[in-house]
Amino acid sequence: MPYNFDRTTFGNEINKGNAPSTEEAMQLLNDWVKNDRLKLHMKQVAHNMKSWAKEKENLDESDQHRWYIAGLLHDADWDQWPDDHCRLIVEELEKRNTDPEIIRAIASHGPNHFGVFPESRMDKMLYVIDELSGFIHAYSLMRPNNYEGMEVKGVKKRLKDKLFAAGVSREEIADALERAGISLEELIEFIARHQKEVVE
Ligand SMILES: [Fe+2]
Repeated sequence: MPYNFDRTTFGNEINKGNAPSTEEAMQLLNDWVKNDRLKLHMKQVAHNMKSWAKEKENLDESDQHRWYIAGLLHDADWDQWPDDHCRLIVEELEKRNTDPEIIRAIASHGPNHFGVFPESRMDKMLYVIDELSGFIHAYSLMRPNNYEGMEVKGVKKRLKDKLFAAGVSREEIADALERAGISLEELIEFIARHQKEVVE
């Protein structure tokens, strides 16, 4: 059973703007995460988040970095401590005086599991990108040319196939898209285009 937060506020407002450097966050990721597939997933979500912040939200470089860090660390405690998933990384970032928006985005990336609902733009985009990123990666692995030539309609067809990546909840994808106010097509196109840029 995943951890359920009994609070809705995270971090401290005085730490607004504080984010670990990419090196610090990578160090934490490498110390905590042992599973290479999970590491790749976290890097892919981070890259998608940063790219979305830049391309779709027109945010500046320091904001893009904050979105990147939220993506990079969102699953840091998942493979080693599944019963405390989300609590440990949230508490670690609180100890490190990290920007409360980054911490809250991580705390709300699985609203049906952790009981914290996405509010900010960063929260909503982390939730929806996380949901679709893994699915699209799974699809790339079964295609002969991986991401090359991937089309929106191919991903949509797999989403309708309940047996494909059955662990990915179609209901959660629909819920996350609705909260973010974006279309499935727009997000598939975006992820298919950016995710391949992450090589390891
Ligand atoms: Fe994730």
